[in-house]
Order: sequence, then structure tokens, then C-alpha cells
Amino acid sequence: MPVSRFPVFRHLAAAAAAALALVPVACQAWGQEGHAIVAEIAQRRLTPAAAAGVAQLQGGASLASVASWADDVRGQRPGDFNLHFVNLPRGARAYDAQAHCAPSAKGDCVVAALGRAQQALRCGPTEEARREALRYVVHFVGDLHQPLHATGDLEGGNGFKVHGSLHGQTCKGACALESGNLHSLWDAGLIRRAVWAWGAYVDRLEQTLLATQDFDLKSGGDQPADWALQSHAVGELVWNDQLIPADGRIDDAYYAAVLPVLDQQLALGGLRLARLLNETFAPGSCSAPVAGTPWPAAETGLRPAANLGELKAQFSAYRDGGGYARDQAAVAEAATAYVLARAGQVARPALVLDIDETSLDNWGQMAQNDFGYIVHGDCGSAPGTACGALAWEAQGRAPAIAATLKLYRAARAAGVAVFFITGRKEAERAGTEANLRAAGYDGWAGVVLRPDGAHGAHSAASFKAAERARIVMQGYQILATVGDQPSDLSGGYAEKAFLLPNPFYRIP
Ligand code: ADE
Ligand code: ZN
Ligand code: ZN
Repeated sequence: MPVSRFPVFRHLAAAAAAALALVPVACQAWGQEGHAIVAEIAQRRLTPAAAAGVAQLQGGASLASVASWADDVRGQRPGDFNLHFVNLPRGARAYDAQAHCAPSAKGDCVVAALGRAQQALRCGPTEEARREALRYVVHFVGDLHQPLHATGDLEGGNGFKVHGSLHGQTCKGACALESGNLHSLWDAGLIRRAVWAWGAYVDRLEQTLLATQDFDLKSGGDQPADWALQSHAVGELVWNDQLIPADGRIDDAYYAAVLPVLDQQLALGGLRLARLLNETFAPGSCSAPVAGTPWPAAETGLRPAANLGELKAQFSAYRDGGGYARDQAAVAEAATAYVLARAGQVARPALVLDIDETSLDNWGQMAQNDFGYIVHGDCGSAPGTACGALAWEAQGRAPAIAATLKLYRAARAAGVAVFFITGRKEAERAGTEANLRAAGYDGWAGVVLRPDGAHGAHSAASFKAAERARIVMQGYQILATVGDQPSDLSGGYAEKAFLLPNPFYRIP
């Protein structure tokens, strides 16, 4: 991967040795404000069933009022210590439970703890157990969205000293950075620079992001481990040498640069908590099969509803009959209308496009492979030859998706910067860029590909969301993200999300 995309921490190694030895580490969670903001956003979005379940457990008290309870008991529960964070090392692009969440006397990590707490909330044996589980769930979802709670370096920045002052509305002159470390700046300092009352922070989010932005949160892979990876990736964006000089000086320019990330993470935390609670309190959610009890086939829902051969014929007809292009055009036109309406209203408008089945049409490859996905194979023209994905991408002969090219040209003409973010690997850059040009795309602001080394359980969704965050931190406002997969759209950092049709394959 190009070094410039993942800022190197020139000073970190030296600072690590010095700082770890000297600085008393005060490991906290979001301050109570951050947890309250997440809890309040969620509470306002509960379904009637979840609201009733919460009200019963809480005796009418708000979620915000108990959102920091887990920090109060942390001192008395030694096995809780590690449950508030997950130390993903710099460069981590996948969550590995064995490496990142190993059991210890201090507990394992927040990803596993949240899973247990959710299960206890769903099925706990007593109301008291479920009440406690609710408090943990609310707290842990919050912690997972604090970027430095998914960052392993210097104990999440607890050991990285910062100094300077912030001049916010609550700072009557200036806020000295009281506790003086980067972690607590993120837990509390940045939020306190913005508001006295956390409710005012919620109000602002409700009137801005939460009012205008699509947060598609339902994509496959949108699980606590993905939230951790997204947090980790934005942690790398807000803690690097370009933003924070080696002497740890923090100022209002830092605050301005990272505020969009702070806002998105708090909003995402609230929305994801709402979804998690709504699922957990849905009727019948505590009816997992008891081990050893075979489920009758009719109840598994796994009985195939269709025939694969017939489906292939339908997909071909969908395309050949023009339905596919028509459906693409409808989505692309809606995106165009939105982007053009907003382009003149913001300083640096941007549009994010996925590549495969969004900007480029791989029908030739899919048809040659009879809808199978084949990596290798020379993709020659001899009948019966496999069209391997690597050869296909290197050949660069996929045509444009016409509707998207139209959107692209309209956006460019309106002065909108267009970025491609794709799951293709960095090694495929040359073929990919040549293909985009040959298909008629020109003058893009960036083509972001996946680093070559990434593999394993790493989801497209968290990669793509973090890359949007990187663009936002460069000062762009992403008006829309357009893709054919839910994983192109989830995770925030864009005003609107537009999903193109793709009945042919699914990327989690
Ligand atoms: N203690 C050690 N690592 C930590 C982290 N990432 N966040 C909070 N406390 C920690
Ligand atoms: Zn913390
Ligand atoms: Zn915590």
C-alpha cells in the first residue's frame, strides 16, 4: 500500500517507551457526556416493543441516566477492566478474536463483552440480570464507537501526552487540556469544548446529520467486530503525524479537523444501539434452539424457494429485456438530482462511487462463467474458458454502466469531486484505472483500492466507511455514496446512500 495513505507515526515508538514509563494511565470510557449522547439518540428511536421492554427494566428512567454505570462499577469488578475497549494494533484490517480479545483476569474485550451482554439482555434468567445487561449493552456500544477504544497504541492514547488549549463556546476564553492525554481528549475533552449540556450535542446532531443523512445500517457484516474495525480505522485518521505534531500540541484546528468524525461516531453509536435494542426486544428473540433439538426442516427457512437454473434464466432476461438498465437509471437519476441540488450549497462537494456493477459492467465475465465467481483463468475467447477475475480486471475491457457514467458527468460538470472506492486490490490499480478511462470516466479526484495484504474476515463495509471518513477529513462533504451492495453504503460519512440493483452476487 502507498505509505501516504496510512500516515506513519514517526514519533510513536520513541514516545511509547518514554510515555508508558512515566504517565499514570487513566483508562476511561467516553466521558459520561459521550455515553449519554449515544444512549439518548438510541432511546428516541426505539420501537414500541423495545421502548416497553426498556421502560420495564429501567422503571421509567432514561437510558442516558445509566449509560455510564459500567464505568462506576469497573473499579469493583476486576474482570471488567478490559471489557471497555479492544486493542487493535496499528494497521489491523481484520478482527481476530484470539489475538485481540484473549481471555485474561482483567476480562477479554468489548467486542466479546457486548455479545455476552446482548445475549444476557435477550435471555437473562432474572429481571435483575437483564437490567444489568441493558446497562452494559448501552455502555459497550458507546465505547466501541470511541475511536481510541479500538486503538492499541499507548493504551488507546492514554499514554500519549497532549497539551494546548481549545476555545469553544463552553471554554470562556480557553479550555486547557486538563488531563493532558489524547485518550481523555477523545473521551470527553472534544465534546466538552462543544457544549456544557450533552443534550445540546444531541440537539445539534438531530438537526444536522440525523435529519439529513441516510445511515444504511442493515448491510451484512454490520456487527460489533465491524464497528470495532471502523472505529479503529478512523482512530488512525485522527491520531497521526499530520494532525498532531510530535510534541503533542492540540489546538482548535485539530478540533475542526476531527469534529466530523466525532459527530459521525456518536451518531452511528446511537443508531446502531437503537437497532440492536430493537432486535433484542423483538418478540421471540430469546428462542434460540436448544442444543440437540433438531429443527423441523419447515421451520429453518432453508428449503430452497427456487431453482438455480431458472434463476439464471431470469437474471439473463432481466438484463436482456432492459429491466436492469431501467432500474439502474432510476437510482442513478435520483442520485443525480440530489447531488446537483446540493452541489452549490456546500464548499467542497464530493460523490463516492463503487466500481464493479456500479461504474463498470462485468456482465461479460459473469456470463462467460455462467454466474460463477472464478479468480484464476485466462479469460480468453475460446468457448468454455473460465474468465478469471484477475485476468478480466487486468484486461480492463468492462464497459461503463451507462446510467452511472451520466451521473458522473453531471456531477463533474457541477464541480463535484468524484472518488471511486472499491474492494479491488491495490495490485489491480493499473488495469482498473485504464478500464475506467476507456469506459469514459475521466478527471476523478481519487481511486481508492483495498491494500494488497488485507484478507480474512475483514468486511468491505468497514473498509469503505473508513475511506469515506478519510475523504471527509480532507474537507470534502460527501453528498452521496452510490453502490450495488449494501456494504457500499453502510457506516455513515455520506449524506445519502443510493443502492443500484444487482441480483447477481452479494459482497458482505
Ligand atoms: N486501556 C488499554 N487500552 C485501552 C484503550 N484502547 N482504551 C481504553 N482504555 C485502555
Ligand atoms: Zn476511554
Ligand atoms: Zn467504558
